[in-house]
Amino acid sequence: MKRLLVVYHTQTGHTEAMARAVARGARHPEVAGVEVELRRAVDAGLADLLRADAVAFGTPENFGQLSGGMKDFFDRTFYPAQGLVEGLAYAVFISAGNDGRGALEALRRIVRGYPLREVREPIIARGGLDAGHLERCEELGLALAAGLEAGIY
Ligand SMILES: Cc1cc2nc3c(=O)[nH]c(=O)nc-3n(C[C@H](O)[C@H](O)[C@H](O)COP(=O)(O)O)c2cc1C
Repeated sequence: MKRLLVVYHTQTGHTEAMARAVARGARHPEVAGVEVELRRAVDAGLADLLRADAVAFGTPENFGQLSGGMKDFFDRTFYPAQGLVEGLAYAVFISAGNDGRGALEALRRIVRGYPLREVREPIIARGGLDAGHLERCEELGLALAAGLEAGIY
């Protein structure tokens, strides 16, 4: 059984809705043998990373950065994960008011230190969420799960 970890931080619910859409897509009935774990960053830790075969990280952009809650997850897991998760596949989804690029760059810079491997195009939802954003998140979840099932990740 392969495992996809969806870990996110949210304050007003947008990133959570995206995370749920990623998880929904990954639980597509045509994909077998992939377990999906949906975790708030504050509740997630090293054990979740070590169990995962791929990870989807979701964060709002706050002050041009990833959110404090998401950064806290990386602050807590960075040293203990050294040497244990190299090359783990990941993807990113971001909710932003009008930008999102700062959060993406900051997150990428952090995970280069683990180091993880970005395997899908990031999703940035700007200016609130619409059906198109959530559809893209579902597609991302499905693609990650299908990749795990196929042994690509
Ligand atoms: C403290 C704070 C700082 C923010 N800074 C940015 C920013 O730098 N760039 C941006 O595009 N949006 C910014 N926003 C808007 C949020 O990214 C946006 O509302 C997002 O959808 C929130 O996601 P959430 O509902 O998952 O908390 C900020 C919001 C807050 C509360």
